[in-house]
Amino acid sequence: MSQLPEFETERLFLRGVKLSDAESYEKNFAHYEVIQHLSHHVPWPYPQGAVKSFLETMVLPELGTERWLWVIFLKENRNEVIGCVDLWRKGVPENRGFWLAQDHWGKGYMTEAVNPVLEYAFNDLGFEKLVFANALGNARSRRIKEKTGATFLETQPARFVNPDYTEHELWELTKKNWMEFKSR
Ligand SMILES: CC(C)(COP(=O)(O)OP(=O)(O)OC[C@H]1O[C@@H](n2cnc3c(N)ncnc32)[C@H](O)[C@@H]1OP(=O)(O)O)[C@@H](O)C(=O)NCCC(=O)NCCS
Repeated sequence: MSQLPEFETERLFLRGVKLSDAESYEKNFAHYEVIQHLSHHVPWPYPQGAVKSFLETMVLPELGTERWLWVIFLKENRNEVIGCVDLWRKGVPENRGFWLAQDHWGKGYMTEAVNPVLEYAFNDLGFEKLVFANALGNARSRRIKEKTGATFLETQPARFVNPDYTEHELWELTKKNWMEFKSR
């Protein structure tokens, strides 16, 4: 049973991840176009079956307490995981990650998906502030922060799967700024 609330947006359905999602998740995730933008802790080449291990060891033991991972579906196809939004309590320094299957980029889906997650984080999970990060040069990910009211903090050295990325941009979204942003 998922311990996380389900969200429906205009075009998407989000629910808490289950172990049975592993295969569908990996099918859309294990591509260099997606993974190159992620932290160097993510293995590349991506080992077959690694999503199942990731869920079993890193996500499910903390799901709903320290970590919240929603898988994303198109409303009309609730069998295919097309991405995820992942939130965690302890900032490293960031508190959130996300990815979307490449076929679905550039349609505003991730902007749509992060909205209910931000609402839940601030209103139900008690976050007063969230920190986000993206590789310097990952313009799509940067844009999501800009489009959801986050404030740019600074650039720092960081390592990614793509070795051409050598820095990350850090962003902050406070509960106060989110509330103000929404009411504009
Ligand atoms: C980052 C990611 C989730 C974005 O998802 P998405 O659904 O395509 O995002 P959206 O469509 O909501 O927004 C993307 C924005 O970037 C803009 N964009 C698209 N291509 C761009 C480019 N090459 N340069 C600059 N901006 C670009 C889009 O125009 C859009 O902004 P707009 O609404 O103002 O036009 C997706 O590209 C992805 O999964 N990338 C690989 C994994 C990744 O980078 N994860 C984040 C790690 S921090």
